[in-house]
Amino acid sequence: MLPLFLFLLHVTYAHWLDELDLPDHHIPYFLHGNAELRMRCMGDDRRRCHHQDTIRSKDLCWGYEAKCLFQNSFSSNVIQCGSESDENLQTFWRQVDFGYLRTKRQTMKQLCASSVLSDKSSLICTGDLTFCKADAFILDLSTFNATISPPHRRDILSFGDIQLKCEELLDYANEPRQPSAFLADWVDELRAAVATPLGAWDKPCDLSIDKSVLIVKPDSWYNLYHHVCDFLNLYLTQHLNGSFDRDVQIVFWDTTDYGYQDTLFNNGWTVFSQHPPIQLISLAGKRVCFKSAVFALPPRMLHGLYYQTPMVDDCQRSGLLRAFADHFLHRLKIKRSRTNRKLKITLLLRKTGWRNLNNSDEIAALLKTRNDADVEVVSFNKGSKSLEEQLQLIQNTDLLVGMHGAGLTHLLFLPPWAALLEIFDCNDGCYRDLARMKGVYYSTLAHDKVSVVQQVNSLTIRPYTFDLLGNLRKTPRVRTG
Ligand SMILES: *[C@@H]1O[C@H](CO)[C@@H](O)[C@H](O)[C@H]1NC(C)=O
Ligand SMILES: *[C@@H]1O[C@H](CO)[C@@H](O)[C@H](O)[C@H]1NC(C)=O
Ligand SMILES: *[C@@H]1O[C@H](CO)[C@@H](O)[C@H](O)[C@H]1NC(C)=O
Repeated sequence: MLPLFLFLLHVTYAHWLDELDLPDHHIPYFLHGNAELRMRCMGDDRRRCHHQDTIRSKDLCWGYEAKCLFQNSFSSNVIQCGSESDENLQTFWRQVDFGYLRTKRQTMKQLCASSVLSDKSSLICTGDLTFCKADAFILDLSTFNATISPPHRRDILSFGDIQLKCEELLDYANEPRQPSAFLADWVDELRAAVATPLGAWDKPCDLSIDKSVLIVKPDSWYNLYHHVCDFLNLYLTQHLNGSFDRDVQIVFWDTTDYGYQDTLFNNGWTVFSQHPPIQLISLAGKRVCFKSAVFALPPRMLHGLYYQTPMVDDCQRSGLLRAFADHFLHRLKIKRSRTNRKLKITLLLRKTGWRNLNNSDEIAALLKTRNDADVEVVSFNKGSKSLEEQLQLIQNTDLLVGMHGAGLTHLLFLPPWAALLEIFDCNDGCYRDLARMKGVYYSTLAHDKVSVVQQVNSLTIRPYTFDLLGNLRKTPRVRTG
């Protein structure tokens, strides 16, 4: 009996570090904001929590915390600027790095005020209402009729449909303001918030959700670019909430009568929650009581990070984007698995109705004449490869070559030394900017080096320079393992 008993003990209690499920090198940064787990690490077996010396010698932190010195922050050794100017570095850090979260945090305020109620609700929001955290509130969807409901509806809630137990709602919650767009903030929804110190609380709920809820406005599901709008902002949201716990319930704030359907990148959501998501339409007609919820940073914030991001010229490599990619790949269990020291070139073909390479066979044949390279020609169209298979291939890639299109968003998951060759950029600097943000080397062909061979609702491109690699001023360094 005894061995079986020990075995059961072993499987029942996962180690706290396994439960955190963070990339190993993120742990000391995470522990900065969590005194209890920090103590736990210090008292733990050194072989399990091997960060003890690191923690003792340096107070590492993400960067946005109140008592975080920049030189101890995650990005201090990541960001690179051309000039010595500290000002550019700080601007870059605020625009596309953890400084972005510091700015948001500085505007966070408790809006649900009461000096007398002891069991009051809580509503903490950023000044621009892109993020809120609410405890003990009621969402009244009894008048929401989901039949033939269109996308991006801003009129689902009316005043009084979010009920909070406090005497008054302060500041931002009561400010008259223009919402910029459905996917940009929570202004329309929070306009429905009302302080109800009495009354409403005695009526029973049609549904009570006990788990902490992540309320998410999902972007378009059909390509990786828009999915990263979702996933990156969820990662930022979890930083703002200070927890990466997957035991949370996602609610998709999708107003259509069919709900949010994601057939291509579904597994990406499991990075943030281990439970099947709930659709907004399944709550229609109900009065729902929440213990705790987070209104997640929406995917297309005005001047967000990643979507329409302003970025200072001089600098590259955001620590935040690096941390996001580490985290995402870690939780999907993607590791580099290279077996040789050849340059791995991945030629990504679109195979859609437009922007195709007319001479992709020639280009592939040409790349394959290099004996120092392994060339793989792929297309990720319409779920032909799972998200994990795509990421695995990209993790093993040193040089990604492809036409302008959402597939190039994969550059975010390339290893740090890799390079991207965007064959034709369609006069859109989007992937050039992302490559700089991520810090992978970027190149594109001059427009006189490609010809458009056909343009009837579609653009087909024939590069007539075959010196594609020569176009890269340096070829990426290859690393195995
Ligand atoms: C919901 O809307 C549909 C379509 O507009 C309508 O036919 C139906 O009667 C409505 N249901 C309720 C309960 O109002
Ligand atoms: C928010 O953080 C708290 C810890 O402060 C955690 O218990 C909760 O699960 C988190 N909620 C979400 C939705 O991440
Ligand atoms: C390339 O374009 C030409 C038309 O300019 C067409 O005849 C040819 O079939 C195309 N090749 C491929 C592989 O699509």
